[in-house]
Amino acid sequence: MAALAKLPPLVVSWEVDALRERLAAAQRGEQFLLQGGDCAESFAECESDRIAKQLKVILQLSLVLLHGLKRPVVRVARMAGQYAKPRSADTETREGVTLPCYRGDTVNRPEFTVEARTPDPNLLLRGYSRSALTLNFVRALIDGGFADLHHPEYWDMRFLHDSPLRGAYMEIVDSIRESLQFFEAMSGRPVNEARLVDFYVSHEGLHLHNEQAQTRYIPRSQAWYNLSTHMPWIGLRTAQLDGAHVEYFRGIANPIGVKVGAAMDDDWIQRLVETLNPDDRAGRLTLIHRFGAKDIEKSLPRLIKAVKATGRSVLWVCDPMHGNTESTATGVKTRRLENIQQELALAFEVHDAHGSQLGGVHLELTGEDVTECTGGARGLSDTDLARAYRSQVDPRLNYEQALELGMMIADRSKKARAL
Ligand code: PEP
Ligand code: CO
Repeated sequence: MAALAKLPPLVVSWEVDALRERLAAAQRGEQFLLQGGDCAESFAECESDRIAKQLKVILQLSLVLLHGLKRPVVRVARMAGQYAKPRSADTETREGVTLPCYRGDTVNRPEFTVEARTPDPNLLLRGYSRSALTLNFVRALIDGGFADLHHPEYWDMRFLHDSPLRGAYMEIVDSIRESLQFFEAMSGRPVNEARLVDFYVSHEGLHLHNEQAQTRYIPRSQAWYNLSTHMPWIGLRTAQLDGAHVEYFRGIANPIGVKVGAAMDDDWIQRLVETLNPDDRAGRLTLIHRFGAKDIEKSLPRLIKAVKATGRSVLWVCDPMHGNTESTATGVKTRRLENIQQELALAFEVHDAHGSQLGGVHLELTGEDVTECTGGARGLSDTDLARAYRSQVDPRLNYEQALELGMMIADRSKKARAL
């Protein structure tokens, strides 16, 4: 930990403050948060092609959302540090052999051997390096114009060419290009702000030694910042009021997220809001709810009312992934796109019906052509899962399913405006 604490930070405090301002705007309904990426990154996949694809799918999705919602989209990737995983069980048994569970690449390795599953603190240093390499590449791509809104066709991916969604996506791209040209023709100058897009990173702040080692006091703001990422979040399994995670997160100035679910009673969520945001600072606290399509209508209204009763405001975000995980008949972990879509559609409705507002989505997705979730325009079924199932942990939306979800949000918003 001492070695890690000596290394320079991965992000700087003014970026963190800028993100908090954007999340404050999302809280007011002026912007929309898109948070997404892998369930878990892996050291082995810290590769240029994969990182570029991940950036592309997030950019594409943000473009679809921007076009549909007519609001700036705040892009926050689950990236450059998403290396520690909470697990429901401590051990895993295969053919009579029991070993510790895989807990993410900064803790141990996924292979099923005693050696691989034994935790190794040196992995923390490797995780820091991988995060730095990832972030360096993302920053270079963005600074170099990879994300220039004038050329969204560059974000296109080869495999989109034979996708049933290609037509709809290209219409959005053309419409954005035309709007920019129109604006530039009117004003006689380029829309500079549209040249560079903002891009932030986040990860679950699970491994507290890791988070603490990168926590610095910033005299300018007279506050402590976690400078390993812009927006750390507390996972569902570590949100206890008297737990170490809430205690650590209470002390940092970053905008933070907390995963919330049906098991949380009113008192628990109210005290979380009061403890984590005592000054009611806008943009500070994002509550990421994850219930499952079956439970959201029952549980979300209660949580909205409980938070309202505190008199404080939060940014509400829907994670339609983690409550919809299931196993196929052959024991493969999957999620069905129709359940994901349904939970998200219900999230918008329930917030509307309770005088609240859904300000963002939190997704597990990849820019690669994997088959981990079923459904979607290509109609992936349980038997397709074996073709390209790569996730070590949770099943992710592939690029096409992610775009389809984005188009659903965009269409919903267009219809709502037309009413
Ligand atoms: C996750 O986001 O990968 C995760 C483990 O989520 P949750 O804490 O909501 O279960
Ligand atoms: Co996950």
